[in-house]
Amino acid sequence: ADLTAPQISRIIAHSHVLKKVSSPWLAPQGFNKKPRLRMPSQSLFNKSIALIFSKRSTRTRLSAETASALLGGRALFLGREDIQLGVNESPRDTARVIGGMCQGIFARVGDHEEIEELAKYSPVPVLNALSSLWHPTQILADLLTLHEHAHLFDPSAEVPQLTDKLKLVDLPNLRPLTIAYVGDPANVLNDMLVTFPRLGHKMRIASPPAYQCAPPVWERVKELGCDKDIWWGSDPREAVHGADVVITDTWISMGQETEKAQRLKDFQGYQITEALCREGGANPDWKFMHCLPRKANEVDDEVFYGPRSLVFPEADNRKWTIMAAFDLLFGKWNIKGEIKAA
Ligand code: CP
Ligand code: NVA
Repeated sequence: ADLTAPQISRIIAHSHVLKKVSSPWLAPQGFNKKPRLRMPSQSLFNKSIALIFSKRSTRTRLSAETASALLGGRALFLGREDIQLGVNESPRDTARVIGGMCQGIFARVGDHEEIEELAKYSPVPVLNALSSLWHPTQILADLLTLHEHAHLFDPSAEVPQLTDKLKLVDLPNLRPLTIAYVGDPANVLNDMLVTFPRLGHKMRIASPPAYQCAPPVWERVKELGCDKDIWWGSDPREAVHGADVVITDTWISMGQETEKAQRLKDFQGYQITEALCREGGANPDWKFMHCLPRKANEVDDEVFYGPRSLVFPEADNRKWTIMAAFDLLFGKWNIKGEIKAA
C-alpha cells in the first residue's frame, strides 16, 4: 500500500530480470555446461541485513538468506530466542542498535504496531516480512507468477523464456483478471485488496459473516480507491463466479492456534474444490494459488496438486521478488527515487 502501482510493476519487472540473470548461473543445464558469466548486481556487498523473525518461516526466510547471498551480502537470522527483543528490550531500542550495525531490517512480527515502531526508530529501511495485518512481499511473488503465466489467461500472450537474451523489461502483460479469494480475510488477502485493483484486476471475496476486513485495512483500501473493484459476500460459490484465479490461505494463522476448533467450525463449506468452482461458475480454465504453508482444510489435494495449481512456481518466486526488494531498498536505497525517475 505504501508503493504506487508503477513502483509495484517496476519491482515485478526487476524480479524477472534478476531471475533471468541468476537462474542459469545457479543451474547450468548438463554436466559439462559452464554457467553463464552473468551475475546479479552485488548491491549488498559488504552489507548485512537483519532478519528479525518472531514467527516461523520457510519461504520468506530462505528467500531472504539466499537472495542476500546472491547480491553479495550477508543476512543475519535473529529468531525470537536469539535476541533481547520482546523479553528484555523494546522495538525502539532494538531498531536503533540493529540499524547502527546493519543496512536493512526485514522483520516478521506479531502485532502490526511492532513493525511500525521498528520503522519509526530505525535509521535504515525496514521491510515487512509478515505482520498481523499485512504480508507485502507475498503479493509481489503472486504478481510475478501471474505475469509469467499470462499465456494461460490470454493465448496471444508470449510465454517468457528464462534463457532468452536479457531485455530489461520483457514480462508479458496480464489481461485484466477476476481474482476470487475464499476463506480467512487475513494478512495475505489484505495486500491483495490494496494491490490487484490498482493494477486493473477485480476481486471477489467470500468469508464467513463473523470474519470481515480489519478496519484499518479497509480504510487503506478506500483511500487507494480499490473498494470499487471489490465484491465481498459470504457465499463461496458466488465469489468464484467468473473467476480466472482462485486463492485461499490457511484458516488458522500463526498465533491463532487456540482458536482452531472454532475456526474449523466457522469455515465449514469454504474449502476450495473442483465441485465448488464448477457449481459457482468459475472460468473453466481457472488457476489456483496459495501462499503456503497449506493445510487440507482450505483446499483439497485434487486442486492443490492438480494441473490448475501454480503454488510451487509461486513459492519459488518469493526468492526473486524478495531479491528485487532487497536490491532496490537495501542495496540501492532507492525503491521510491528510482521508480519515480523511471
Ligand atoms: N508464504 C510464506 O510467507 O511462507 P513462510 O511462512 O514459510 O515464510
Ligand atoms: N495467514 C498466514 C500466512 C502465512 C504465510 C499466517 O499469518 O500465518
